[in-house]
Amino acid sequence: MSPFRENLLAGKSAFVAGGTSGINLGIAKRFAELGARVAVVGRNPEKAANAAREIGRDAIGLSADVRDYAAIRTAMEQVVAHQGKMDIVVSGAAGNFLAPALGMSANAFRTVVDIDLNGTFNVFRGCHDLLNLPGASLIAITAGQAVNPSPLQIHACAAKAGINQLIRVLAMEWGPDVRVTGISPGPIANTEGMARLAPDAAAREAHYARIPMKRWGEVEEIAEAAVFLCSDAARYITGTILDVDGGSQLGDASPRNMARGMAPAS
Ligand code: HXC
Ligand code: NAP
Repeated sequence: MSPFRENLLAGKSAFVAGGTSGINLGIAKRFAELGARVAVVGRNPEKAANAAREIGRDAIGLSADVRDYAAIRTAMEQVVAHQGKMDIVVSGAAGNFLAPALGMSANAFRTVVDIDLNGTFNVFRGCHDLLNLPGASLIAITAGQAVNPSPLQIHACAAKAGINQLIRVLAMEWGPDVRVTGISPGPIANTEGMARLAPDAAAREAHYARIPMKRWGEVEEIAEAAVFLCSDAARYITGTILDVDGGSQLGDASPRNMARGMAPAS
């Protein structure tokens, strides 16, 4: 049951880069359920077509690589030709794998930075003159690793940290017509990201220990944060990065650490 008013996003056009699976697909679905016309983009054309079918409501699924500025710009122009200028743009395409810095080639590092950070620049730079102004809303999907260093993810930590600054700089440059915000999800159940970053019980336990809310996040909870950020309810919010992570960024919330914290100083 959606906590939002029916048709909250009626008349809006939304473009979701990386919206063909997982969290971003969940965002696209929720936008469509609330009345927006939606387009999703990923590299794999079949996956994009399936995602559009799953969303329904005349959603468009296109294939383009966010690393290729010309390709992503062409996809946006196609969407605008069908759906009119865009009101909402989400940049959520990402790549990740666990590897130590010394197990990573220069190309491996560059690949993730290219998808996450350069891809977000390409998506936001590419959409600006195709936006409905004023009142457009851009949302980048970042991660807690942007702030807290995480071993085996030097590429994603660096890329997401860059995304956080990109959000803030664009919020300064593009206000008041465009609001630019970010969402930083915690570990979200049943996603590719979780499968890659917590591949075994020990890793899952370590992630779980850090969550004060004591449960994994749900795709829908990220989608609802995205609806809030692009709605009028957030009309005075820009440059903000919203943690939707059950408190994961606060630190180690495991019973062992809590007990240590409560012990008298010696
Ligand atoms: C070391 C690796 C590697 C691994 C790939 N490479 N996997 N190096 N360990 N496990 C190296 C390759 O050998 C190659 O370097 C370089 O990376 C590029 O690999 P390609 O396969 O050619 O790249 P490409 O086809 O563009 O695929 C990109 C990808 C892939 C990132 C490698 O995994 C992908 O498409 N991922 C998209 C889906 C995804 O990751 N979703 C989860 C997002 S989760 P060489 O030198 O051999 O050429 C997420 C969680 C957020 O982001 C929280 C943390 C921030
Ligand atoms: P996912 O299912 O793998 O989604 C990634 C999406 O990006 C797919 O649609 C993928 O489609 C697309 N994509 C990847 N590389 C692309 C490229 N070069 N060009 C265009 N599209 C590309 O991942 P997820 O776990 O849902 O994560 C979604 C977002 O949330 C990411 O930004 C991630 O960093 C962030 N996040 C996730 C978690 C988590 O717990 N899962 C936690 C924190 C942050 P194709 O493969 O067809 O290209």
